[in-house]
Amino acid sequence: MLEIKGLDVTIGIQRILQSVSLEVTQGQIVTVLGSNGVGKTTLMRATMGIYRPSGGEILLKGERIDRRPTHEIVRLGIAQAPEGRHLFPNMTVAENMQLGGAVLPAQDYEAAFGEVVELFPIVQQRLQQKAGSLSGGEQQMVCIARALMARPKLLLLDEPSLGLAPKIVKLIFDLIVRIRERGTSILLVEQNAKAALKIADYAYVMDSGRITMEGRPSELEQDDRIRRIYLGG
Ligand SMILES: Nc1ncnc2c1ncn2[C@@H]1O[C@H](COP(=O)(O)OP(=O)(O)OP(=O)(O)O)[C@@H](O)[C@H]1O
Ligand SMILES: [Mg+2]
Repeated sequence: MLEIKGLDVTIGIQRILQSVSLEVTQGQIVTVLGSNGVGKTTLMRATMGIYRPSGGEILLKGERIDRRPTHEIVRLGIAQAPEGRHLFPNMTVAENMQLGGAVLPAQDYEAAFGEVVELFPIVQQRLQQKAGSLSGGEQQMVCIARALMARPKLLLLDEPSLGLAPKIVKLIFDLIVRIRERGTSILLVEQNAKAALKIADYAYVMDSGRITMEGRPSELEQDDRIRRIYLGG
């Protein structure tokens, strides 16, 4: 589905990503773990065409996308729920959904909305409320729901668990599994390694702009360094 090969991203004079390579296979949840400031969000932004790489390639289903503008990348099938959610707080949930679905042909909108509401009933319940008036967990759900309105083949999730209580994190991660079950591939960036490894099919570890380790979750969970640094034990 997604292939990133030798990706370099430089911002100003700082080389943020150095030769990052990773793959998301169709129908999988792939997670990128890493501490604060290692470059996870930069990787997401480069994939969305927000940052232009200085080297390497990004391919979606074999097609180069790294020179394309963001709106084309969304049309080709990638949508993201960005770090910090970036909802429009003074707009209603319904209006936020409309923005997510703006890339769709008008006749597909109702069907897309129906699919999203089936997974996220909260969207229907809060339709006329201002997005900014919802709880953190509800806002995170609306953020993911908005991305799904574009009917992506690949969904990018940047720290969906950030700032949420464990109970809500569990709820959101259960929903992420259901999104995969519906056939959407997922690239999940997380500091919450424990929760991410539980649902992922494959995992990468990022450190200072580089991929330093990769493997199946069961392999990484056994690794001493991963246990010490990311799993707190
Ligand atoms: N637009 C920018 N201008 C300058 N520096 C930036 C910019 N974006 C990111 N950086 C720097 O790049 C590095 C990686 O940042 P990034 O946000 O990608 O990390 P992250 O892994 O997502 O961190 P976090 O866990 O805090 O979300 C940091 O040193 C950050 O300060
Ligand atoms: Mg980040």
